[in-house]
Amino acid sequence: MTSTANPPQLIDRFGRIVNYLRISITDRCDFRCLYCMAEDMVFLPRAQILSLEEIYALAQAFVELGVSKIRITGGEPLVRKGALELMAQLGQLPGLRELVMTTNGSQLVSMAASLKAAGVKRLNISLDTLNADNFKAITRTGDLSQVLQGIQAAKAAGFERIKLNAVVLKNRNHEEVGDLVQYAVDNQIDISFIEEMPLGVVSQHNRGEAFYPSHQIKADLAARFTLIASTESTGGPSNYFQVAGSNSRVGFISPHSNNFCSSCNRVRLTVEGRLLLCLGNEHSVDLKAIVRAHPNDQTALKQAIIDAMLIKPEKHEFNIHEQPVILRHMNMTGG
Ligand code: GTP
Ligand code: 5AD
Ligand code: SF4
Repeated sequence: MTSTANPPQLIDRFGRIVNYLRISITDRCDFRCLYCMAEDMVFLPRAQILSLEEIYALAQAFVELGVSKIRITGGEPLVRKGALELMAQLGQLPGLRELVMTTNGSQLVSMAASLKAAGVKRLNISLDTLNADNFKAITRTGDLSQVLQGIQAAKAAGFERIKLNAVVLKNRNHEEVGDLVQYAVDNQIDISFIEEMPLGVVSQHNRGEAFYPSHQIKADLAARFTLIASTESTGGPSNYFQVAGSNSRVGFISPHSNNFCSSCNRVRLTVEGRLLLCLGNEHSVDLKAIVRAHPNDQTALKQAIIDAMLIKPEKHEFNIHEQPVILRHMNMTGG
């Protein structure tokens, strides 16, 4: 008799299947976005971060346990030396359906074609504004034209879909949402608007006052565009609408106004090797200690991953009107 064992699956206490792993491959970044980092960030010393070989071994264990989508994030993933070689290796993992990346776009002019060749299917590129001065103010160090050229390079490289991510802050960029959608439509790409999450202490704005809810953005866009509700999902938290008469979709990521935790399918690996079970909670397992203790044996690692599912929290408890409970900044987590 042949065995018909079911393929492996990671399942948490609430019956949610975890098939999406987000890996932050560096906490470093060439930008200092004011909702993401403090201006004077101290980055992790090399001994504390996973090597590229360790990241690969961890990814392989997750894929063998049923993970079919991996998103590479940072910091800015493309500032890590060896990032392209890692992508090429991950792209070959049997069982991995989708290798995707979130980037700030700054390195795409030189790297987009190689990323595509390495097997990266889709790119999410952060873009909060089309105004060069505002871009400098929000990213503190970034150059808008470099990112816009990077987006064109990504289009030319032929990725399946490109999505822009815009974190919307009241009185910083909320008046630009229409222009950003028009840019997405003109370029036949998608865009998601994100409500800011209270991760780490930020200095230049009050998060409660800067909150600009997704329903308000939707109302603002209605003056210029017709948005048709879509049932399409990328397996991420965006709630999508088709822009009538275009190839573009507009997504809303609304952790405050429309909590999506009940359908959460993802966990995160930080560059320190901490498996975070939820973006908005500190529940975690130190997988670096396990890979370093058992470098040639995946058994202990896989058991630790299976056991970790039992501490995945039911939901995040974000409150933008209070001091952040989660002190890690977004660059540690990769969004
Ligand atoms: P795809 O759906 O695969 O295109 O990606 P995505 O939108 O999930 O990923 P991306 O890296 O572009 O993230 C966009 C935003 O969604 C980031 O600000 C993330 O922090 C946020 N996000 C992703 N997953 C979660 C989650 O589980 N909880 C919360 N609160 N936010 C999330
Ligand atoms: N809240 C919401 N989104 C954030 N990002 C970074 N910091 C925050 C925050 N505090 C976004 C970036 C990027 C994605 C990975 O996370 O803009 O698009
Ligand atoms: Fe860098 Fe992205 Fe954080 Fe901006 S949001 S500082 S681009 S990691």
